[in-house]
Amino acid sequence: MCGIIGYIGNKQAMPILIKGLRRLEYRGYDSAGIAVCEKNPAGSEICRVRSIGKIDMLADKLAEVTLNGTVGIAHTRWATHGGVTEENAHPHVAQDGKLALVHNGIIENYRELKEHLPDVTFTSDTDSEVLAHLIAKHYQKDTGTDKDLRVAVEKALSHVRGTYGIVVMHKDHPDCLIAARMGSPIVIGIADDGHYIASDPTPILAYTKNMIFLDDGEVAEMHPDKMKIRDLKAHEITKCVEQIEWNDEQAEKQGFPHFMLKEIYDQPTVFQDAIRGRYNLHEGTSFLGGLNMTDDEMRSINRVILIACGTASHAAMIGKYAFERLAGIPTEVDVASEFRYRDPIIDGRTLVFGISQSGETADTIAALREAKRKGAFVRGVVNAVGSTIARETDGGSYMHAGPELSVASTKAYTNMIAILLLYALQFGRLKRVTTATGQRMLHALRDIPEKMKMILDQSEQIKQIAIKYKAYPNFFFLGRGINYPVAMEGSLKLKEITYIHSEAYPGGEMKHGPIALLSDQFPIFAIMTRDQLYDKMRSNIEEARARNAKVILVATQGDEQARELADDIMYVPDTMELLEPLLNTIPLQLFAYHTAVALGRDVDRPRNLAKSVTVE
Ligand code: G6P
Repeated sequence: MCGIIGYIGNKQAMPILIKGLRRLEYRGYDSAGIAVCEKNPAGSEICRVRSIGKIDMLADKLAEVTLNGTVGIAHTRWATHGGVTEENAHPHVAQDGKLALVHNGIIENYRELKEHLPDVTFTSDTDSEVLAHLIAKHYQKDTGTDKDLRVAVEKALSHVRGTYGIVVMHKDHPDCLIAARMGSPIVIGIADDGHYIASDPTPILAYTKNMIFLDDGEVAEMHPDKMKIRDLKAHEITKCVEQIEWNDEQAEKQGFPHFMLKEIYDQPTVFQDAIRGRYNLHEGTSFLGGLNMTDDEMRSINRVILIACGTASHAAMIGKYAFERLAGIPTEVDVASEFRYRDPIIDGRTLVFGISQSGETADTIAALREAKRKGAFVRGVVNAVGSTIARETDGGSYMHAGPELSVASTKAYTNMIAILLLYALQFGRLKRVTTATGQRMLHALRDIPEKMKMILDQSEQIKQIAIKYKAYPNFFFLGRGINYPVAMEGSLKLKEITYIHSEAYPGGEMKHGPIALLSDQFPIFAIMTRDQLYDKMRSNIEEARARNAKVILVATQGDEQARELADDIMYVPDTMELLEPLLNTIPLQLFAYHTAVALGRDVDRPRNLAKSVTVE
C-alpha cells in the first residue's frame, strides 16, 4: 500500500527521502510527494513538492528546485480515497502549510471528523488531509506558550477510527518529527547521524541495521539525537532495538534488468537459507524451534488452517497437501478475506498459520486475530522481519527470502512452501512418517537448489516460447493434485504482470464447462510431470488437443512422450511428488516474466497493484 519515509538528523533530507521512496515504490506508485523543513534566518518553512505517477516524475520535478533541510517526510501513494491527482498526493498540509503529514492506512470516520472542521477549506478528497487539519486544530487550541506538537497529535488520534501509520512535522518545531501507529507499520532506524522512519526496513538498511518497530497505539517523538516513545496513555516506554540482518545490497537489482528476474534467480540461494539448520538428517526430521509448542501440544492438534492472500494462498494450498499426506491432519486453506466472515470452526486443538511475505497484509492480520480470539494456536510464516504478523503471532518461522521488491512474488512463494514442508514433516514424524521417509524427503529437499538452477538455465528457451505466445489474449493453466496450485500460481503471475486473461483449472474439471472456450486461439499451459496423476493429466491434454488448442507443457526431464503431445515444452528435473511445486513453478514464473518483457509491460510495478496491501 502506501509507503512512508522520514528523516531527522544532520544530513540533507532530500536525497535520503528520494532514495527511500524508490525503495518503497513497490508499496504504491500512483503518486508521490516530499516535504522538507527549510531553516531560514527569518524562521523555518515547509516546502512541498508532489507529482502524480512514479517516483521518476517526482524526481524530475525536484531537479528544478532545491530543498535544503535536514528534516523531511515523503510518501508514495496507492489510492484508496480520492483519485490519482496531485491534490490527493501526500504530504498533506494544514494551518496554511505550517504542518505537514504523511499517512498510510484508512481513517474510517473521516466524514464525521470533517464536520467538526467547518472552517477548513479542503484541497483534496482524501481521508488523510482531514487528519492533518484535525492535528492542526488541536495544536492551535493549545494556548500555552510552548505548544506541544506531540500532544496535539495524540489528541487528534483519540478521535480517529481506522488504521494509520503517520509522520507529522511542523515548521515551528523544526527539530522534531512525530510518528504514530495503529494498524499500519512504522519502523524507526537509529543511527549516529539521526533517525530514519519508514513503512518497512528496506529504505533504512543503507544507514543502519538498528531498528525499532512501533506497536499499535505508540507515538514516537524524534529529534536528531534523541527519541521518546510513549504508549496510548502517554507513558514513556522502552522499546527493544532489533538488529535487522538483511543488507542493503540484497535490495539492489545486482545487474538484472528487473527485480522480478533477480528474485527468480535468487531462489536456489534463498531456498537454502530457508531450510538451513532446520532439520536433522540422521533422525529424518525437521525442527522449527519458533513453532513454540510442546510435543504433547503438537500431538493434540486435530485441524490445521492455513490463512493467506494471493500468491501466499497458493503456497498454502501446497502446504495442505503436505500436512495431510505427512501428518494426516485435516488441513484447510482459507483466503484471509473470507476466513473471518465465515464463522470458522476453531478450538484449542486447531493450529492456524498465517502465511505472508510482508507480514502486513490487513486481511491476513485480521483473520489471525479472529483465530486467536477463538482460542487456536496461531503461528506465522513470514518474510519481513519485525512485521505485524511476526510480532502478533505466538511463534512461527521467518522464511529468509531476503527483501522481495518486485510486486509479483516469486522467491517468497518457494520459501513459504519450504517452511510448510518442514512443518508438515515435523508433525508427520510425531505421527506416521518413518525415519527413512523423513530422510528421503530431506535428501530430496537438499537437492532442490541444484535442480532449480537447471531450470533457470533454460531461461532463454522459455523466453523464445514466451515471444511466440505473447499475442494470445487468453490462457488456461492446468494442473492436477499438488500441481493444481502451481497452475493457479502460473496463471496469477501471467495476469499480474502481462494483463493477459488467464484461468487455472484442475485438469479433470476442464470437461465440466471451461472446455467450451477452447479453440486454436486459446492455448493451454499444463503441468504434466511424472507423478501419480500423470496418465489422468495426459488424457485431459488429449481432450484439449482435440479442440485444436495449442499446448505448452511442463514435463519431467526425459519424458519423450510428452514432447509428442506438446507444441512447446519445458523440462524440469525429477523430484519427490510433494516437492514438485518447488521446481514446477519456476518455468511458469519465467514464462510470465518474459511475456511481460516482450509486451513492454512494467514488470516490477504492474498497473493497479501494490505489494503490501494494508487495507481490507
Ligand atoms: C498482494 C500482492 C500479492 C501478494 C499478496 C499477499 O495482493 O500483490 O503479490 O501475494 O498481496 O501478500 P503477503 O505479503 O501477505 O504475502
